[in-house]
Amino acid sequence: MRFRHQHTSVAVCTPGKLNLFLNVIGKRADGYHELETLMVSIGLYDTLRLVDDPDGELQLHCFRVACPTAVRGSVREPLPVDRDNLVVRAAELLRESAGIRRGVRIELCKRIPLAAGLAGGSSDAAATLVALNRLWNLRLNRAELHALAARLGSDVAFFLCPSGAAVCRGRGEIIEPITLAAPLHFVIVRPATGLSTALVFRHCQPGRHRDGAERLVESLARGRLSAAARCFHNALQEPAEGLNGDVVRLRQEFSKQPFLGHLMSGSGTSYFGLCATRDQARQLAARLRAKRIGEVFVAQSRP
Ligand code: C5P
Repeated sequence: MRFRHQHTSVAVCTPGKLNLFLNVIGKRADGYHELETLMVSIGLYDTLRLVDDPDGELQLHCFRVACPTAVRGSVREPLPVDRDNLVVRAAELLRESAGIRRGVRIELCKRIPLAAGLAGGSSDAAATLVALNRLWNLRLNRAELHALAARLGSDVAFFLCPSGAAVCRGRGEIIEPITLAAPLHFVIVRPATGLSTALVFRHCQPGRHRDGAERLVESLARGRLSAAARCFHNALQEPAEGLNGDVVRLRQEFSKQPFLGHLMSGSGTSYFGLCATRDQARQLAARLRAKRIGEVFVAQSRP
């Protein structure tokens, strides 16, 4: 995340993520699922601007920005500006834990598609915690921010990790940073429809994949992209395909193109392909755009 702190405001770019590996190990007593997942943050950003308002209220204003590499064709879900938005919940949680009643005006420019498995909302929430910690001079340390992030959602803590790539375990909140040999180049397509994370998890069958993420971690660290792509796995893809025909269609379309590997991200519905170079990513994105199967993005992994 990149922060720009001025006197009474903070501006921040918040990246999305892709899951190159997601194994559902088992169901937990708290209703969540035990995971092992490898996530990389990508250069597809929302932007947030937070302006301190000491005597005012907590206000969120959302704007949707068309991504320059996107193609229209998606369902435009409304953007909540109340507690249904994780940004509001993050600001409220921070105020509550610091015991203060300060206001802030937050402007959120949304480029990352919703209900897409790209964790845009989680990234916005993580950025809100870090930005308000600075703006309000609360001096919460990394561990305290991490604990608040984990309370907000399973993916939120990942975005506090400076490395931009990590294996995440537990509910997703136990983060082990990893190193990529070089930036990865992706084409991402978000179809016209989204999926609810809770619904996809309800339909998954835990414990069916025996391999862990170790081989993928090693291949990425050595820059062996074809070997890495052979380790791609998402245990949520089968249930997502059962629930949403758009995901099936994306898999079929990606299979016809010379990607090193392809996979659904998170609980869907976004689908991505790994390319050898940025030029190849642009070329394959153009082909998929012509098929009008959704919004098409070219994105690189980010440190
Ligand atoms: O934690 P988050 O709010 O992002 O999760 C959304 C939903 O996804 C949860 O309510 C739960 O149904 C499901 N989930 C799960 N196991 C996880 C993460 C999410 O069952 N590790």
